[in-house]
Amino acid sequence: MSMHDDIKTVLVSEEELKAKVAQLGAQISKDYEGKNLVLVSILKGSVVFMADLMRAVSIPCSIDFMVVSSYGGSNTTTSGLVKIIKDLDGDLSGKDVLIVEDILDTGVTLSNLVPMLKMRNPNSVKICTILDKPSRRKAAIQPDYEGFQVPDEFVVGYGLDYDEKYRNLPYVGVLKPEIYEK
Ligand code: PRP
Ligand code: MN
Ligand code: MG
Repeated sequence: MSMHDDIKTVLVSEEELKAKVAQLGAQISKDYEGKNLVLVSILKGSVVFMADLMRAVSIPCSIDFMVVSSYGGSNTTTSGLVKIIKDLDGDLSGKDVLIVEDILDTGVTLSNLVPMLKMRNPNSVKICTILDKPSRRKAAIQPDYEGFQVPDEFVVGYGLDYDEKYRNLPYVGVLKPEIYEK
């Protein structure tokens, strides 16, 4: 039984991801030259992109990790709040924070998290996401760096899960409806 059997179509291939990550890494290395870059990975979804992106960045940087859970489920339009489950280890003062995400969906998570991080006196806070689903946006927030815009479909892989599965797919695929409808 292979995970691949549950995928309807491949939306972004391994090769496309690889090329885009290299491009983003090069751009970030240029933009953050001489700065105090810290890559902040929002677990768990960003783990795969983080591992790839950090190796595509050629300037010195540090890394840190955060686990958050956002309230305000899919049926609410309230901005909700973000609960910090695991905070960063490091201090952000004077740092140039680049948040690394797998997907910017409604934007509720990051629209709450960004102001929280800005209160810690960083020099800057920006967002880098490999996937963007602008059609689902509820909060006024845009990525500073993005990989691919995706349609409003059930995407999994490259860190993105359905029921904690499919994160280890090496590409971004669309899940067959029978998987989440059963
Ligand atoms: C997903 C995704 C983003 C967030 C985006 O994480 O990885 O972090 O939701 O959604 P939003 O823009 O609508 O706020 P999830 O909460 O599923 O946790 P996970 O990363 O552990 O899968
Ligand atoms: Mn996530
Ligand atoms: Mg998830």
